[in-house]
Amino acid sequence: MGLRDLRGIMRQQVPAEAWKHFNGAAESKATFHRNPRVFQQYLFRQNIFHEVSDPDISIELLGQKLPLPAITAPVGSFSLIGKDAERQVAEGTDRAGAMMFVSQAAKFNLHDWRNADKSPLVFMAYMNRGRPEVEEYAKAAEDLGFAAVGITMDTVKPVKIGDSAFVGVNSVIMPGVTIGRSAVVASGAVVLGDVPPFTLVAGNPARVVKRFPAPEGGK
Ligand SMILES: Cc1cc2nc3c(=O)[nH]c(=O)nc-3n(C[C@H](O)[C@H](O)[C@H](O)COP(=O)(O)O)c2cc1C
Repeated sequence: MGLRDLRGIMRQQVPAEAWKHFNGAAESKATFHRNPRVFQQYLFRQNIFHEVSDPDISIELLGQKLPLPAITAPVGSFSLIGKDAERQVAEGTDRAGAMMFVSQAAKFNLHDWRNADKSPLVFMAYMNRGRPEVEEYAKAAEDLGFAAVGITMDTVKPVKIGDSAFVGVNSVIMPGVTIGRSAVVASGAVVLGDVPPFTLVAGNPARVVKRFPAPEGGK
């Protein structure tokens, strides 16, 4: 089974919004295009007469011995696929013995990841609230036996929250999103795009479910 087959399965099984979100690559797609070019530089030569009945493809990475050279990339929005997607990805990574990089933007916290995945973990922090917050995460990650903590460098787009807006607990808001004035984000919502002023958004992905009357002269 190759990447093409996996994409076919994903397209059939995940909600349309999640497919649109995941069927691509990060930001400018620079690494998406560069990765295959790098692989093309290598020529794989089979050693036909070599003993390969028990191949050892293990590597050492960040001081951890991994049975195979694979890492699950950090993704903050797994929950768009389904409410158990984070656990399923963690358990799959665990079964494979691969390393997993986990995102601060996920719904799972450090403890959840640790409980679901016994293989080596790396926590990818965002610099949203500056250094002290990252240091707190680093301490917690170390206490839970994470292999390393990294910093995700794509937070150039902060989340903007308008005056009197309300953001419910357990919601996830993607970088660069603006929450309009007096808008309400329901708890548990996954907000992918801007939320207009005086609206209530809910769900995964979040949609406008109610519009509030704007006060006289309000925008
Ligand atoms: C939908 C999506 C969500 C992602 N979420 C995160 C994230 O929350 N934290 C992070 O460090 N990287 C995140 N990434 C980056 C990936 O982990 C990975 O490093 C990157 O996609 C590799 O580059 P490429 O997509 O250009 O090939 C995300 C990527 C995608 C496509």
